[in-house]
Amino acid sequence: MFFNKDTELSLLNIKRFQGFLFEKYHYDFRDYALSSFKRRIEHVLTFFKANNLEELINRMDSQSDLAEKVVKEITVNTTEMFRDPSFWRKLRDEVLPQFKDTPSIRIWHAACSSGEEVYSMCILLKEMGLLEKSKIFATDINSEVITTAKTGIYPARSLEVARSNFDRFGSKNRLEHYYKLSFDSLFIKYDEQLIKNVNFKNHNLASEESFSKFDIILCRNVMIYFNFDLQDRVMNTLSNSLYRGGYLAVGSKETIAWCNAARDFNPLSIEEKIYKKLV
Ligand SMILES: C[S@@+](CC[C@H](N)C(=O)[O-])C[C@H]1O[C@@H](n2cnc3c(N)ncnc32)[C@H](O)[C@@H]1O
Repeated sequence: MFFNKDTELSLLNIKRFQGFLFEKYHYDFRDYALSSFKRRIEHVLTFFKANNLEELINRMDSQSDLAEKVVKEITVNTTEMFRDPSFWRKLRDEVLPQFKDTPSIRIWHAACSSGEEVYSMCILLKEMGLLEKSKIFATDINSEVITTAKTGIYPARSLEVARSNFDRFGSKNRLEHYYKLSFDSLFIKYDEQLIKNVNFKNHNLASEESFSKFDIILCRNVMIYFNFDLQDRVMNTLSNSLYRGGYLAVGSKETIAWCNAARDFNPLSIEEKIYKKLV
């Protein structure tokens, strides 16, 4: 019998599992929001056909390559090209024009998943004539999604959502302009020239500090998985990583309101969750 959802996952076992992942593999999930973390553990146990967490820990103890796979299944990697099209319109109409005459634009995609957010940004920058002077860092805790992001290859079935979002964003071009069909039209590959100024790397928001300064940071749809303490710490890192007058964007269902670092920001758009750094 493999794990069944009705089996109680005790708080103690979850804490033990988090402790094991941290001590043995330095993955820090100790401050993730408990209810969503518990749902992810249920998924992981079913996915790896394990009866309970103890069995999974024993397997991870003897197979070191299993840890990375488990982490991939714990994290939620859902993303889309031009996710929340009105957000991208706001970036195009109110944020990016401010960098028209600056010598460079430094952008950090924190928790970029498989890279669709990064390709969306690069397309937008190209359409505005800003891509050449941009320097972009794109990071995630999960190395598999970073590998996908670097290849720019996605299943062709992702096109339906991508095209619909792109149309709602309202570009003068067609999305086809930026990718080619490959592998018997089962996959698409975005133009690699789009990411020539992008540096993809692993970065863990829960345990690593700021590594540079930026004009714009997108950290969307990841803090919802963190508890308040961790959100607060991550917001400090993000604030420390922004130049004065820089912009921070979080996900449409997220807010920075209760974080201490919120006092460093003024909202540019409450609807699109874009904040301008004051100090
Ligand atoms: C739902 S995706 C969001 C992707 C993209 N930002 C978007 O809004 O479409 C969340 C991403 O956060 C990453 N993530 C989770 N915990 C993280 C952490 N501690 N540090 C960095 N990335 C993390 C996951 O691997 C996943 O790729």
